[in-house]
Amino acid sequence: MRVEPFDAVDVIRAKRDGGAVAEAPLRWMIDAYTRGYVSDAQMASFAMAVLQRGMERDEIRVMTDAMIATGERMSFAALGKRTVDKHSTGGVGDKITLPLAPLVASFGVAVPQLSGRGLGHTGGTLDKLESIPGWRAALSNEEMFAQMKGDVGAVICAAGSGLAPADKKLYALRDVTGTVEAIPLIASSIMSKKIAEGTDALVLDVKFGNGAFMQDIDRARELARTMVALGTDSGVATTALLTDMDTPLGLAIGNANEVRESVEILAGGGPADVRELTLALAREMLALAGQPDADVEKALDDGRAMDSWKAMIRAQDGDPDAALPTARETHVVRAAVDGVVTRMDALPFGIAAWRLGAGRARAEDPVIHAAGIDLAVKPGDRVTAGQTLFTLSADDDARFARALQALDGAYEVGQTAPASQPIVRERITA
Ligand code: URA
Repeated sequence: MRVEPFDAVDVIRAKRDGGAVAEAPLRWMIDAYTRGYVSDAQMASFAMAVLQRGMERDEIRVMTDAMIATGERMSFAALGKRTVDKHSTGGVGDKITLPLAPLVASFGVAVPQLSGRGLGHTGGTLDKLESIPGWRAALSNEEMFAQMKGDVGAVICAAGSGLAPADKKLYALRDVTGTVEAIPLIASSIMSKKIAEGTDALVLDVKFGNGAFMQDIDRARELARTMVALGTDSGVATTALLTDMDTPLGLAIGNANEVRESVEILAGGGPADVRELTLALAREMLALAGQPDADVEKALDDGRAMDSWKAMIRAQDGDPDAALPTARETHVVRAAVDGVVTRMDALPFGIAAWRLGAGRARAEDPVIHAAGIDLAVKPGDRVTAGQTLFTLSADDDARFARALQALDGAYEVGQTAPASQPIVRERITA
């Protein structure tokens, strides 16, 4: 029988009492949990101690490294191109990856965008792309490399289960033990997967506001700083933008409708906030890839990014020109009075879209690609009584009542226009 070098209870006590856990026992704790020697009860207790007591920069680095060591580590060194990835902490209507990856790839940079599916009120990039007839999320490592090395350059595909398996187990445990919100645990969870993926550079879109993980900008800043430090300490050039998630991003919330909006952006149009954020993140990514003066606006406006999108979709068996699914049932919500839209809260709109079938309640559930919400107006827009505010779409009109319940009090038509704020509030660098 294997002789274990440490006791979980000593590690838990050290953190519970506010101390820093030394490198060897911390590495062991993560490894032993992944092997099943440290129990869920012990790891949950440790996670709660981390939530209460925090961790020092060096502890977070060790923990992240220990999580990476539980799985495979990929390398893109053989590509002969710079690789740069983007990660968003998740929001409502956040389809930015779709136009961003091909836009950045149109400058000759490789973009490995290993993505997930949505659970809860934030949508998953793969779910959105699967609205496109034929499109395939599962690629072998060989297919992924070939796509990045060749003319396409960008790949958006399912992250294999081999990257940081400790995180998968720990995240599921945190989800049911009230410990998701600990900044050291969020940072090590996100960065273990990104560092294991092997990208040269990474841009983080850390969201704050009612539709984000972090409600306030101070916590979002702390999370961003922690992740930028982790990336930098591991040799991944990392910067972060703090961006607003109080209001849904763009006008489309769902899957197929978010693809439609992304294609509008790639055609040089689309909602101003989606374009602004796509351009800001593209500039950051290209600066890290050694092209600080790249004219990203021109690439959106002259069709280069669109060509890159079509090539990326075709490379994964999708038909970029095929019609996207449309819903059987729609329900229009109209303004009751004349005035100005003062507020549309992201979280309830995300929950409503989820209830319409755009998201899933259990990992194994399918999503309804045509379900979702299309906003006709945004905060600051003037409306007259009877004008459409937004349209709900679903395959079954029985879904509308619970979606409308989520939207009760979520938006307001008043008399005073809200102050307009830029979507990107801060930039965090090493
Ligand atoms: N996303 C992750 O991958 N991990 C977290 O802990 C939170 C968000």
